[in-house]
Amino acid sequence: MAMIAYKCPQYRVTIVDINHKRIAEWNSGKLPVYEPGLDEIVKSVKGKNLFFSTEIEKGIKDSDIIFVSVNTPTKSFGVGAGMAADLQYWEKTARQILQNAESPKIIVEKSTLPVKTALAMERILTSNNSRIHFDVLSNPEFLAEGTAIQDLENPDRVLIGSNQTENGLKARDVLVEIYKNWVPSDRIITSDIWSSELSKLVANAFLSQRISSINSISALCEKTDADITTVARAVGFDSRIGNKYLNASVGFGGSCFKKDILNLVYLCLHYGLHEVADYWEGVVKINKYQMERFVLNMLTSMFNTLTGKKISLFGFAFKANTGDTRESPAIFIAKRLVEEKAELVITDPEALQNARIDLKNIDGKVSFIEDPYDAAAGCHAIALVTEWDLYKNLDFEKIYRSMIKPAFIFDGRNILDHNRLFEIGFNIYPIGKPALTHFE
Ligand code: UDX
Repeated sequence: MAMIAYKCPQYRVTIVDINHKRIAEWNSGKLPVYEPGLDEIVKSVKGKNLFFSTEIEKGIKDSDIIFVSVNTPTKSFGVGAGMAADLQYWEKTARQILQNAESPKIIVEKSTLPVKTALAMERILTSNNSRIHFDVLSNPEFLAEGTAIQDLENPDRVLIGSNQTENGLKARDVLVEIYKNWVPSDRIITSDIWSSELSKLVANAFLSQRISSINSISALCEKTDADITTVARAVGFDSRIGNKYLNASVGFGGSCFKKDILNLVYLCLHYGLHEVADYWEGVVKINKYQMERFVLNMLTSMFNTLTGKKISLFGFAFKANTGDTRESPAIFIAKRLVEEKAELVITDPEALQNARIDLKNIDGKVSFIEDPYDAAAGCHAIALVTEWDLYKNLDFEKIYRSMIKPAFIFDGRNILDHNRLFEIGFNIYPIGKPALTHFE
């Protein structure tokens, strides 16, 4: 919404939320999320044509177009628990729009929703014999965290799904006009609503499938002394495959990938497509296997016991350049290490506040230290979980001197200079490459 306000001064954008604290934060000088470049954009339009408010009813009444961006987490109860999307917030919003609208509106589905939700939304909005006309559009968001501003400013594509009726197409054109203020027309794709909703799930399923594919091969590389970076490079040079999303890692995290694949799996099960459901569920299974493998590798390398050993986790965010820790592999790894009775020191430049919340009920010794040098001091091992640039340029000689020997580094992102660290004296365990150790 900040980008729309920034690119289209002729529109007035109001963001409403039930969370008063959140809205106060957006209105304050310090934004509640860390996203490179967002601060400047918000500052340049806030109070001009971008407003944050808790007056939801007024927001509904005053607007011609409503973007619904409520959260749709994985259901934790009842039918579809652990897989289907929890649509309670979304349905409440639809009902609230119906109750308060006094003029025709275009409703844009921005939250990622399992297919056919727009149809349900339409049914709610046309119930009560409402005399007000609503058009529902699907406009999934493809931005990735950490690069949100460049993804929004220069998107690979904008996708807009609408009913193929006269009204539906008219509403679609209103939204197309907004994006045309800065997105080239050939990047604005229009479709029917169902295809648009499904495309978002499928895009995320394909992206995470690539990561699980390369991660599965990283396990084979570790057994056969091949090098995953070489394999990924050789494979990625094939222009049909391409070289993106082939970085082997400790596993993927984030609020979307797992949730969206599980939604896809649930959808397939619903339609009796068991083979298709199993196929996509495999992506999530490999991801869990990769995280578990990382922990097992730590355990076996450190002489089969972690009890009482001090381990520093370098990074807690699910990826670099964000403070977001949702579904971060770090959460799984931290919990497993504590089960092995290790003592943890967590460090991260942006995510410590979230890490504290994620681990608040953990039964073990965990501390949180912002400075990576202080975090590593006195530790037996470092487990690098997030690929923050700052970890590449640390003074590892200083770190080595401050650690207990033999000192271990488990590079869950393959971002460090492994040969150099080995020369300093560390035992290095990358992902999908032979370990470099000083042991016989
Ligand atoms: C993703 C999609 O990229 C985006 O289009 C969609 O709108 C939302 O979901 P995001 O969750 O922000 O975005 O992060 P992304 O950059 O895709 O990374 C997801 C996870 O995969 C991270 O944990 C990342 O570290 C991991 N990853 C990514 C790898 O392990 N290897 C890679 O090669 C790429």
